[in-house]
Amino acid sequence: MSRLVTISLLLISGLVILVLQACKKNDATPYIGTSLEFIKPAGWPTPAYNFDSNRLTVEGFALGRKLFYDGKLSMDGSVSCASCHQQYAAFTTYDHDFSHGINYKHGTRNAPTLSNLAWSNSFMWDGGITNLEQVTIAHITSPTEMGETINGVLKKLQVDATYRKLFRAAFGDENVTGERMTKALSQFALMIVSNNSRYDKMKRGEITFNIAENMGYDIFREKCAGCHAEPFFTDHSFRNIGLTINGSLKDYGRMRITGNSMDSLKFKVPTLRNVEWTIPYGHDGRFNSFDLLMEHYRSKVIDGPTTDPLVKNKIPVSNFEIGQIKAFLYTLTDTAFLNDKRFSSPD
Ligand code: HEC
Ligand code: HEC
Repeated sequence: MSRLVTISLLLISGLVILVLQACKKNDATPYIGTSLEFIKPAGWPTPAYNFDSNRLTVEGFALGRKLFYDGKLSMDGSVSCASCHQQYAAFTTYDHDFSHGINYKHGTRNAPTLSNLAWSNSFMWDGGITNLEQVTIAHITSPTEMGETINGVLKKLQVDATYRKLFRAAFGDENVTGERMTKALSQFALMIVSNNSRYDKMKRGEITFNIAENMGYDIFREKCAGCHAEPFFTDHSFRNIGLTINGSLKDYGRMRITGNSMDSLKFKVPTLRNVEWTIPYGHDGRFNSFDLLMEHYRSKVIDGPTTDPLVKNKIPVSNFEIGQIKAFLYTLTDTAFLNDKRFSSPD
């Protein structure tokens, strides 16, 4: 008898815990609103992002879009996400090696292009952040970028009637929380997919490449795709391509995160999608042109202890071949994406 009581008590308490957990989960993310479909391009792998943890809605995306373009996220109102991630430049800062934050302070790294983030599970040049929502928090609180506190931002949003309406539409009530804000920003960022370049159209059989583009594609597959792998043009790994270290920045890349000397000078392989627009190149934007970067690959690679085997003997390419590679890389420009109204400023 008493055993039965104990068992039922256990069952009941188990049930209570389950119900409580369910409530807690729902409380944290009571998504209402219209589902927004994330379309995975045919043939691409399953995204790395866990969409169950952040259900995309039309209203959540709209809130994220407004936040992305809003200076309120910074201490003095002068810097928004879009100040450094400009759509026409594939969401990098065009023609800037280091991006500028509040009070004209600048950071130490080149703003990366934002696209196809749903397939990435490590962010920043050194992969120091493994959660997309954390990227937002890091940017807002960085003294050289937005220089704010999360509470400071939340207060500014809470007193703004438009934001209260947007939060209600996306999450069911007017509670402005850090979790909701970062998740809405992620919803916006995740939807930024680039898959309509000439390259994508060629892959889908809609167009054919010209001779130069085809030759460039062949050279690229032989000499570059070992790291810049299709369809993202990055394999999301960290590699040292034998650059000299910038003496004043002393940026050792991945080693700063892992503490492992074998990771010294390794940086994330950047995507080459829309590379025509992401000048200057490299983690510190040291290359002002594609030709300078190619000169590095063919004649300046330093063969250090962590230099990648694929580049340690340099990459032999003639001037003619560089021209062909460039013709191919320009097929990665996705004009529809660069001009997509869904990703532009809502105001
Ligand atoms: C002051 C310029 C600046 C601002 C403002 C800024 N970013 Fe960034 N962003 C950068 C730089 C620079 C990096 C790379 C940092 C690093 O590698 O350490 C980066 C990295 C990222 C990444 C990682 C991309 C990847 O592939 O690893 C995402 C996502 C991102 N930013 C989104 C945002 C969002 C969302 C906001 C607004 C909350 C924002 N950024 C505001 C400059 C900026
Ligand atoms: C061993 C792997 C590897 C190979 C092979 C390789 N790359 Fe890279 N590439 C990288 C890494 C890592 C970076 C970032 C380096 C840094 O900033 O420290 C990079 C940066 C770039 C950039 C700058 C992109 C940006 O937005 O900053 C371009 C363009 C580029 N590579 C093109 C090429 C081409 C073209 C080839 C073939 C000729 C090639 N790469 C071969 C790993 C590689």
